[in-house]
Amino acid sequence: MTRPYRLSRRGFLGVLGGGALALAGCGRLGGETSGRTLTSALPLPAPFTGPLPVPQVARPVRPGHYELAQRAAKVEIIPGTRTEVWGFDGVFPGPTLDLRRGNQAVVRVRNELPVPTSTHLHGGVTPADSDGYPTDLVVAAGRGFRPVGGHHAGMRIDPDLWKFHPGARDYVYPLDQRAATLWYHDHRMDFTGPQVWRGLAGFLLVRDDEDDALPLPKGDRDIPLMICDRAFDEDGAFRYPSRDPSLLVRAGVDDAYMEGVQGDVVLVNGAPWPELEVDAVRYRLRLLNASNARRYRLELRPGGRFVQVGSDAGLLAAPVEHDAVTIAPAERFDVVVDFSAYPVGSRVTLVNTLDDGTARNVMAFRVARKAADDSAIPARLSRPKRIRRSDAVTTRVFDFRKSGEWAGAWTINGRPFTPGTPLARPRLGTVELWRLASDFHHPVHVHMAHFQVLTRNGKAPAATDGGWKDTVDLRPYEVVEVLVRFEGHRGRYMMHCHNLEHEDMAMMADIEVV
Ligand code: C2O
Ligand code: CU
Ligand code: CU
Repeated sequence: MTRPYRLSRRGFLGVLGGGALALAGCGRLGGETSGRTLTSALPLPAPFTGPLPVPQVARPVRPGHYELAQRAAKVEIIPGTRTEVWGFDGVFPGPTLDLRRGNQAVVRVRNELPVPTSTHLHGGVTPADSDGYPTDLVVAAGRGFRPVGGHHAGMRIDPDLWKFHPGARDYVYPLDQRAATLWYHDHRMDFTGPQVWRGLAGFLLVRDDEDDALPLPKGDRDIPLMICDRAFDEDGAFRYPSRDPSLLVRAGVDDAYMEGVQGDVVLVNGAPWPELEVDAVRYRLRLLNASNARRYRLELRPGGRFVQVGSDAGLLAAPVEHDAVTIAPAERFDVVVDFSAYPVGSRVTLVNTLDDGTARNVMAFRVARKAADDSAIPARLSRPKRIRRSDAVTTRVFDFRKSGEWAGAWTINGRPFTPGTPLARPRLGTVELWRLASDFHHPVHVHMAHFQVLTRNGKAPAATDGGWKDTVDLRPYEVVEVLVRFEGHRGRYMMHCHNLEHEDMAMMADIEVV
């Protein structure tokens, strides 16, 4: 279901006036979805019939050095069929990089695919030249590429901005940042949507002493869950409405999918509606929405609570209980679920109450047996730095909307992505107040700098907005104020909508930290 685009100046005027806005009619299911659903052309498996895969942890080639090869491989996702994935090491999700704060990791990415790639560590406080800028590309050895990109705006990209690394390159991650659930994914100019859809994404977990010292569930009771939706062709291939399926010449999707591409199959760690056998104890679940466009409102059936302990950028100050968690593309929620609340033998399902079709089910947990549990959720988790409105040295307004002027483009402040021309130049070491406004669902993501949500529509933030974040869920005609702290590195970074179809269709801007 899609929500028709309406041109409204109300949001923008409201922002300029600094006033609060009422949320325009968003109660219906349709108003909560953020794209158009592509239907699979093969019979879908019954939910909860296959086991939950947990991605392998990557092993270093020598201390601090990792190598990942991006390549095509055929895997069985829908039983009885083969799907070609483009995966890091040929798997989807890619191997998990399980790393420690302050221990620099060098990741050599080798591209063996027929398209260029750029790898970004989402949530990473990474030097700009390793951040995966969209025109900073790795190209398979022996392949030539002419620069392709910027079509939507009919723009010309400064030729100096294109970089082509033949074969492979190293990305350097200092990881001088709090323990958190990060993820890496492709970020190629204009083609991120189709390339992530084909599988170019994986987890990177940052651990630290503060997090390790807590009595939260550990080991195989600490599980990353990458949730994403996909659609399949008759022969099992991923289905995606690219204008140019070679991904070499023409960017973009069929007009009908301009608002975002949703699939009718929900994958968790790459498997359709899987089931995990659990002990009747607490588990720490690191939820990531790696979908291109779909938002989920996750609930447990029959009944149950999520105790949130962390957000995008690490531990909360104190745990927060939720009956439901709404998760937009690229957001992470680190939650604890206590399965001792359910009788042994029962099945607990994780459902998405924003969909009433096949994307309503996500996965299930089968409570197999009683077991000892020495975990606990302490009342104090961390002492994250607090920042206040008065710390902000500048206020900026960013308006995310489909532009009338640039037909077919999603814009920020009326401008399609113009590489090399920053929309803002914040100073390293400062805090800025950013007022974000929208015409549609736009999960807004900032590279390198983390932020805290200050207000939503002039009121207190939602219960799920807590902690340090790098992505915030903007709903239609909302105004969200965030305090962004520029700490880490100078250089050319980006901010963009993480609906990948919006991102590919120009809803991105350079942010140069000076
Ligand atoms: Cu998760 Cu700029 O990306
Ligand atoms: Cu990012
Ligand atoms: Cu968007």
